[in-house]
Amino acid sequence: MSGVEQVQEPPRTPSFAMLRTLGGVAMMAGLLVVLVFQVTKPIIEENKRIAIEKAVFRVVPGAASRKDFVLGAEGLLPAAEAQAGGETIYAAYDAQGALLGVAMEAAATGYQDVIRILYGYNPACECVTGIKVLKMAETPGLGDKIAFDPEFLKNFEALDARLAPGRDGLLNEIVAVKHGNKTAPWQVDSISGATISSKAIARMINQSGQRMFPLIMRHLDRLRAGG
Ligand SMILES: Cc1cc2nc3c(=O)[nH]c(=O)nc-3n(C[C@H](O)[C@H](O)[C@H](O)COP(=O)(O)O)c2cc1C
Repeated sequence: MSGVEQVQEPPRTPSFAMLRTLGGVAMMAGLLVVLVFQVTKPIIEENKRIAIEKAVFRVVPGAASRKDFVLGAEGLLPAAEAQAGGETIYAAYDAQGALLGVAMEAAATGYQDVIRILYGYNPACECVTGIKVLKMAETPGLGDKIAFDPEFLKNFEALDARLAPGRDGLLNEIVAVKHGNKTAPWQVDSISGATISSKAIARMINQSGQRMFPLIMRHLDRLRAGG
């Protein structure tokens, strides 16, 4: 046996080949991301449009079509023409083109996190006509009942939202009362064991309504005409 051991060096990876391969992989990955984004964007937009339409038709019963507007510093503008910011509102019409109501978003903090809803307002009866919970993280079995409890949702089928004589706010604040204590048409009968979530819904409609209903009334003729 010889006393000299031969140590073999591992073959070197040429750094240029390594960089070229890595660069190629990164480029392919980037291209794939862009491609997937381009392909899925119109599909996502269309799904969003359908989801909004379904929600609008749910909170404004009887609606057959809708037109989107932005209500803001520039006044009321069709959504496609609005440059500056504002709040998007969805005007909903029956099959003959008569304005049935206006749907808009509202949000407030519930028991766990922010609750976001779409709700409908009928300027003819000056009342709220329905709600649809868009986002929430309320406790399953307790607070999450705000989305589907039929008794709770009944509160919003004709919730009194008349304007005060000055037409700059609500005649009566929309408030939630403890379960079984509703005595007035502007009160929301809370879900038993979920008063906090129920109060959040009443609070968000009240805050949104105090601001939005007078503006909607001011632009009612244009909303009726469809733009
Ligand atoms: C683990 C846990 C989760 C709860 N989740 C909710 C909830 O999502 N929404 C809510 O309003 N109350 C929730 N509550 C109950 C509230 O603490 C509170 O007791 C309730 O809203 C009051 O309603 P009540 O006056 O009808 O009893 C929860 C309580 C516990 C212990």
